[in-house]
Amino acid sequence: MKHHLALVTGATSGLGKALCHALAQKNISLIAVGRNIHKLQLLAAEIKTPIRIVQIDLSQIEQRSSLCMLIQELCPDLVINNAGFGLYGPAIHHSLKISQEMIQVNIQAVMEFSLEAASALKKAKKPGSIVNIASAAAFFSYPNFSIYAASKAFVHRFSEALDLELSVYRIRVFTVCPGQIATDFRKKASRNFPQKLDHLTFSCTKAVRLILKQIECGKRVQIIDLRYRIMIFLAHFIPKSFLLPFLQNSLSKRYQKRS
Ligand SMILES: NC(=O)c1ccc[n+]([C@@H]2O[C@H](COP(=O)([O-])OP(=O)(O)OC[C@H]3O[C@@H](n4cnc5c(N)ncnc54)[C@H](OP(=O)(O)O)[C@@H]3O)[C@@H](O)[C@H]2O)c1
Repeated sequence: MKHHLALVTGATSGLGKALCHALAQKNISLIAVGRNIHKLQLLAAEIKTPIRIVQIDLSQIEQRSSLCMLIQELCPDLVINNAGFGLYGPAIHHSLKISQEMIQVNIQAVMEFSLEAASALKKAKKPGSIVNIASAAAFFSYPNFSIYAASKAFVHRFSEALDLELSVYRIRVFTVCPGQIATDFRKKASRNFPQKLDHLTFSCTKAVRLILKQIECGKRVQIIDLRYRIMIFLAHFIPKSFLLPFLQNSLSKRYQKRS
């Protein structure tokens, strides 16, 4: 499917920014969404195709509503719900406010923009694609990453089911489940707690290439990185009494311990 206008959330860094550059190279016009106007302006200056920047904090319901109106008005035929964040450590150590914001950004925004984009495309009788970035963490109950993993499980299940619901309108919904990608995600999730990068980290450029290929091939769900595909498969055979403490332990060096 040839796309003409793409909306990308979380366009100010990491995967979102790299996706904007890759789409611009394919001559796709952009609506780049982020909360940092300075970073959005820098992105716009780097990009050669027509680009509209939209400053929005996705944790704020009124600001999300204004983006929903813009989606109805401009009817992008590619919507990439990429913005998201996580926090390592026991959920009880995070403020309720930040946990609520995680749900707003990782779940609410994805659900609202997916449905808004689908309804705009359906009204215009246009085909289109919605790409929702979940995570390999979506496949696990993940102690010390509990809210994030559960939010991505929502993205995975919702997007996978929505793809079938919308196929009658020639609208596809693609779910992307990356493992660790080399972006600022981990630094933010650990609140800058110093740690070593491990060998499982995947390059952002490679991840973008695989996402674009997924859209082209029409693959509903993709787990990025073979190593994560193997781990997720093997995890089915491991008792949870062993698996969950193992996962919990795997993150124990990524955040500042508190009593
Ligand atoms: N990197 C990984 O290892 C990894 C693995 C699996 C899944 N993912 C998923 O991949 C997606 C992209 O993350 P990334 O790796 O590129 O990390 P990133 O570099 O931290 O990018 C996250 C983007 O989301 C934006 N964002 C966060 N909260 C926001 C809010 N309230 N309003 C508006 N924008 C907000 C950030 O904006 P600011 O620049 O303003 O913070 C940033 O542009 C996320 O959904 C993440 O969960 C990442």
